[in-house]
Amino acid sequence: MQKQDIAHLAQEAKKSIQSAKTAAELEALRVRFIGRKDGEVTKLMKQLPALSVEDRRTVGPALNALKNEVEQLLTARVKDLADEADRRQAIDVTMPGKKVATGHLHPLTLVEREIRDVFKAMNFSVVEGPEVESEHYNFDALNIPANHPARDMWDTFWLATSDKRQATSKKNNMSHVADRLLLRTHTSPVQIRYMEQHQPPFQIVVPGRVFRYEATDASHEINFYQVEGLMVGKDVTLANFKFVIGEFFKRLFKKDVSIRLRPSYFPFVEPGLDVDVECVKCGGKGCNICKDSGWLEVMGAGMVHPHVFEAAGYGPHEYQGFAFGLGLERIAMIKYNIPDIRLFYSGDLRFIKQF
Ligand code: DAH
Repeated sequence: MQKQDIAHLAQEAKKSIQSAKTAAELEALRVRFIGRKDGEVTKLMKQLPALSVEDRRTVGPALNALKNEVEQLLTARVKDLADEADRRQAIDVTMPGKKVATGHLHPLTLVEREIRDVFKAMNFSVVEGPEVESEHYNFDALNIPANHPARDMWDTFWLATSDKRQATSKKNNMSHVADRLLLRTHTSPVQIRYMEQHQPPFQIVVPGRVFRYEATDASHEINFYQVEGLMVGKDVTLANFKFVIGEFFKRLFKKDVSIRLRPSYFPFVEPGLDVDVECVKCGGKGCNICKDSGWLEVMGAGMVHPHVFEAAGYGPHEYQGFAFGLGLERIAMIKYNIPDIRLFYSGDLRFIKQF
């Protein structure tokens, strides 16, 4: 074994490692040069015992050094190849792009926007009011005095009001001495707030969140959304109401649905009505959605009670108008055939992504 053999082998290893293009090639080279059984360096090492003591002293370390060098070259080249692959990937314009996840609107938002748009197209204005409301606006001004049995229609979340607030209102001799705060149970208080600030004629809708202290089930939630409507003028009649609301449902459901008015009771209207639409699924024949009646109850309504006009500062017989209130979830459930109100608030993307 000659010194040149070692030098030659070193040359050879360096050249082939540098020109290797894949990890597999590099692995083959590792086996070829320093493989434990038949590696070329290994084979030379196995010949060491046959050498003279003197030769061993120089050839031994030289072979060791060669083995280390080959190992280092291999490791370096493996890393180079990986880096190169990374770099190539970074500018590979043919790679499929990463999809940007965009959010999208909740079904209730979609339906609320549609309702706003339909009413705006019929010349209604959209207004809003506070979610934390006073007993005065939520009840008293709407002809629902304390101790009136009708208050039981709205199970209420009351807010703990400080004694200071009550003391101040007493000292200032305010008319609503015990005007406690609550989470509004309906959007109707905005009727009063709006009338206090505006003179008829006008027509408004009021979308908003409301709260009820109730047990939840497939059709009840403790927080949900309503859309209130109010149209007031010198000669607004129930016939106007029937037309407006019939038109509204036709536009919303995009078909020619019939509506039906039934007598009902709400303290802030007289007469009070429940409004049904023809079942949008079966067209009135009777199915599981309408419980075989052919009709779906969709809103409460009526002609504004004179007490309500008075509470808002109008003369009781100066104007007349209609009011209505609908549950947004109920409309969305009908429109999209959704069986359970709780789905809207489940945060379940499998549900939300369908709309
Ligand atoms: N505020 C009523 C409720 O939450 C719904 C309602 C009924 C609103 C009749 C109205 C109305 O404006 O006239 O149950």
